[in-house]
This record gives sequence, C-alpha cells and structure tokens, in this order.
Amino acid sequence: MTPADAPVLTALVLGSGGGGGVPQWNCNCRVCRLAWDSDPRVKPRTQSSLAVSADGERWLLLNASIDLRQQILGTPAMQPKGEGRHSPIAAALLTNTDVDHAAGLLALRERQPFTIWGTRATLDTIGANRIFDVVSPDLVPRRAVRLGMPFEPLPGLALELFPVPGKVPLWLEEGEVKTDAIGEGTVGVAVEAGGRRLVYAPGCAGVTDDLHKRIEKAHALFFDGTLFTDDEMIVNGLGDKTSRRMGHMPVSGPGGTLEGLARHAHVRRILIHINNSNPILVEGSPEEQHVKAAGWEVAYDGMEVAP
Ligand code: MLT
Ligand code: MN
Ligand code: ZN
Repeated sequence: MTPADAPVLTALVLGSGGGGGVPQWNCNCRVCRLAWDSDPRVKPRTQSSLAVSADGERWLLLNASIDLRQQILGTPAMQPKGEGRHSPIAAALLTNTDVDHAAGLLALRERQPFTIWGTRATLDTIGANRIFDVVSPDLVPRRAVRLGMPFEPLPGLALELFPVPGKVPLWLEEGEVKTDAIGEGTVGVAVEAGGRRLVYAPGCAGVTDDLHKRIEKAHALFFDGTLFTDDEMIVNGLGDKTSRRMGHMPVSGPGGTLEGLARHAHVRRILIHINNSNPILVEGSPEEQHVKAAGWEVAYDGMEVAP
C-alpha cells in the first residue's frame, strides 16, 4: 500500500440511542418530553449503530439499526455514489440479535451485495428467523467468525470479536434469564486500521479481565451507556426492570461503568447506546457534568471519531 492509500481508522456514530431512540414513540419521560419539545438541551437520537472504515469509502456497520434507513438519509457517507445501484455499506456485523441491532438488515433488502458478519450463534438466530431471508443469502453471504480470531471484513480493517457478559435478546427470553452469560450471544468488537484501535461494546453486563486488556490497548472506546442508575426505569415509572436485569451495567454507582473503567483515563471513552430515560442526555444536567468530569464523552448521532 502506498502512503496515499494507507488505512486510516474512522468511526461514525449512526445511532447513539438505545432501544426506542430519543424520543421514544410512546414515551413522555423527562428526557423524551424535552426532545418532543425540541429543547436544545436534548439531541434526538436514533438507535444503536456505529459505522467504521479504513478508507472513508467502504463502510462496515457495527450493528444494523432498526433506524438504518433514517441514518442513511441523514449521513452522506452512507449514500450511493456514481451511477445506478451502489452503496458504501459493504458489510454489517451484529454484536447480538437485539431488535435495535439486527432489524436494520431488513432495510438492506434491495438486492445489493454486502456481507453479514457475526458469531455462529448470532447467525443461527438470524438464520432461524425466515424474515431475514429477504436479504437473500445468495447475494449477501453470512460469515461466521470465532471469538478471539482476527479477520478482515474490509481491506485494511482488522477485527476481533470477544465475549462480554450479556443475555439473550428480549424477544427470545423465556423462564429464568441469565443476565451475564459469557459466550457467542453478546460480543464486543476490537477494530484496528493503520495502527489505530477502537473497542465497541454497546451492551455489556460487567467488566472482565479480557475487556480491560482490550481497552488498555485501544485509543478509543465506545461503551454501553444505557442507564445512569440501576433502578432508573423503576424510579421513573417506566418499567419494572433494573439495568442489570436488562444486561446493561449502569453508568454510575457501585460496580458501574465509571467506577469499573476508571483506570482507562488515557483512552478516549465515549458512552453509546444511551436509553431515553438517561439524564446524561440532558446537556448541562448534573449527571452529564458528572460523566464528563469522570473523563467520558456522550455520543451523539453524526459524531465522527478518528481514534
Ligand atoms: C437492550 O439493549 O436491552 C434491548 O435493545 C432492549 C430491547 O430489545 O428493547
Ligand atoms: Mn439495545
Ligand atoms: Zn423516554
């Protein structure tokens, strides 16, 4: 490779919200109310996805958001170039099969070749659900990757998937649910291009030694910022589940993300997959000030990061 086309890692936040987005269609919580009112303190957010590229031309989606069509409409880098049919979206990788992360595959069904990547377990879940066959496997191959095995979904872009504690998606829950299972169901992604590295883990129920090691080597981290406090949904009358029950570490409090990842102050740390109930979404709020003082940034749609 000549220096002119040496790989440069770029990450584009397509969707910084968690499931439901901001505002959520049926929600009038304090944050959603501000968003419905177009209050400048709350940016609207679409649901969870990060695009990464080594050349700024071919992009890998890390999760295919249920809001993908809206994200493409709002992001010139994701729009077709040249004559006829084309898309800069060359591949999509799923970190789990939650609706917010997987349903966007259905928006990519117009016979455009690309590749779907994921663990065997994730691809089996997609494969068992026939609606995803509208994205025809004859044109859109599904490639399974093993945990901890390096692969290159696009030229110059090196990835590794690693397990993070998590649970089955809500739509597959039955009986007793293990909320911090380690396996192929919920993964983090380590991305490298041109010697720069990022880690992406939009859903994570706990910190592992492996996660620490991978963050240690990274220049940027995009991490689960779903809820600020463990009992946020309950206290606000929005639901009966704790953050941990939903498979997400809370941002604050004992065993929370700020505490658990405090040692990585040298890494650019960004909260992503932020639920609409989370007060860090209100700019200037004490909670937003708190995460900033702890050295974290709050992702927003359209945020571009060159780690
Ligand atoms: C989650 O991140 O917990 C899920 O996206 C929840 C959901 O499916 O609504
Ligand atoms: Mn989610
Ligand atoms: Zn809300």
